[in-house]
Amino acid sequence: MSFPQSRPRRLRRTAALRSIVRETRIEPSDLMLPLFAISGKGVKKPIPSMPGVAQLSVDLVVAEAKAAREAGVRSAILFGIPDAKDAQGTAAWDPQGPVCTALRAIKDAVPDLVLAADVCLCEYTDHGHCGPLARDAQGHVVVANDQTLPLLARAAVAYAKAGADIVAPSDMMDGRVGAIRRALDENGATDVILMSYAVKYASAFYGPFRDAAQSTPKEGDRRGYQMDPSNLREARREALLDVGEGADLIMVKPALAYLDVISEIRRTTDLPVAAYNVSGEYSMLKAAAQNGWIEERRAVLEVLTGIKRAGADLILTYSATDAAKWVADLA
Ligand code: PBG
Repeated sequence: MSFPQSRPRRLRRTAALRSIVRETRIEPSDLMLPLFAISGKGVKKPIPSMPGVAQLSVDLVVAEAKAAREAGVRSAILFGIPDAKDAQGTAAWDPQGPVCTALRAIKDAVPDLVLAADVCLCEYTDHGHCGPLARDAQGHVVVANDQTLPLLARAAVAYAKAGADIVAPSDMMDGRVGAIRRALDENGATDVILMSYAVKYASAFYGPFRDAAQSTPKEGDRRGYQMDPSNLREARREALLDVGEGADLIMVKPALAYLDVISEIRRTTDLPVAAYNVSGEYSMLKAAAQNGWIEERRAVLEVLTGIKRAGADLILTYSATDAAKWVADLA
């Protein structure tokens, strides 16, 4: 007497069968599109290390936002590249700067697109670090944590006033979630959502973004504030701190080398978890696809599915508009 042979292949025989037992599906609403805003009109500056992505003047940012929404994408995140940078990053909270202008223009043209604004000073400082610099007790140049907090809060309040639904601090200063939450609440922005880049590693995969945002540090690197890629327990610590300080959404960044971290953070908090499929991850696939080495559509959807399967509710990806169209074609 023997048991019948187990045959998992029965469930994979046809497209229809596969579709009724599929565990994870990418939907356009899972995807958040990053956009790079600059000043001017009709200006499009392609980013060589990110094929298909460009710095755009506000009118063209609006057009991209519209196209994303038409493809089914429900959210976008704005980054700004100012005309002038200084040691404090003061352009970050300029109400006439590219981010505030883009927020108002997109809210006007595409009112039901959820809009996030990245809150960091590295695009706005002339030295490229995420806050003003100081010397520590040993004389080393460091980002001054507590001096950075009010500046970040000021930028977050400016974005909230310009219409951001979400502010997303990506600087990795200690205590910034609490400082920003307090400033938002004091300024009547109690409905503005705080999406924290809570678990952000010092990653080589941000290289192309730094071309895009012109934010490569002139000296040194970000390892004194971003996390060591080797650490998982520290990810829990960072996430729990930000939950305690009032974050509404917790992000893990990058995504691909950190799928275990995404799944750990999924179990650490009941807040929604976002994952950033960063520039280097995007560019690797683009480069391989352009060489004919991989099939872009399948590779991108496989990556996004993996990130969602690991536990992400929301995925920030430069492929958002394309991927939204591709999944609609599959359906
Ligand atoms: C700003 C910021 C960075 C990214 C998002 N916000 C770069 C960095 O920390 O150097 C990276 C995004 C990407 O690589 O796609 N601090």
